[in-house]
Amino acid sequence: MKLFIDSADVEKIREAWSWGIVDGVTTNPSHVAKTGRKHLDVYREIFGIVDGPFSLETLTLTTDEMVAEGRTLAKVHPNVVVKVPITREGLKAVKQLSSENIRTNVTVTFSPLQALLAAKCGATYISPFVGRLDAIGHIGMDVVRQIKTIYRNYQFGTQVLTAAVRHPAHVLEAALAGSDVCTMGFDVLEQLYQHPLTDIGIEIFLKDWAKVPKP
Ligand code: E4P
Repeated sequence: MKLFIDSADVEKIREAWSWGIVDGVTTNPSHVAKTGRKHLDVYREIFGIVDGPFSLETLTLTTDEMVAEGRTLAKVHPNVVVKVPITREGLKAVKQLSSENIRTNVTVTFSPLQALLAAKCGATYISPFVGRLDAIGHIGMDVVRQIKTIYRNYQFGTQVLTAAVRHPAHVLEAALAGSDVCTMGFDVLEQLYQHPLTDIGIEIFLKDWAKVPKP
């Protein structure tokens, strides 16, 4: 499973990229707003750090506008993936962009049937927002599993990108469900390394090694 960082924080992205386990980046208008910087400046800096797919969100609502935005974004860098919301207008835009070989990430997805429609329009990625579903009492990961089943049944090439991840258990479940990608914030990424038994194990080995006679 590929791991993406969901952020617009250049320093956090630089740090996470240096670990060697990050495959790409997703961002959204809320992340960019937090930086207080111009979006293109932030995007260009991130392209200078990460060599992998980078999803940039469109901010218009009609097909024509989204297609125009997508074409403009695609020119920024070869690694651009155009993020499009899963509306009727959005999916028409996805179909057009995909016919022009522009990669798309269909976002704010909450149901397997929305995902079926996105795959039919040639989406590169589908992003089910699992944490937001959990927050209203649904089981977000069920949607990931259902999408995987539908895509497997009909051999769709669209990749499942589990998003709105809140903790490492979401990442584990995404991997067990066969999600192609999981995107998460810096904190969750960092937590994936942690296990108390690893810390204790290292401490014991170092303590014992201190007893070994040195040349
Ligand atoms: C993914 O592409 C989205 O940017 C992200 O996961 C949104 O989810 P959140 O704002 O609920 O964390």
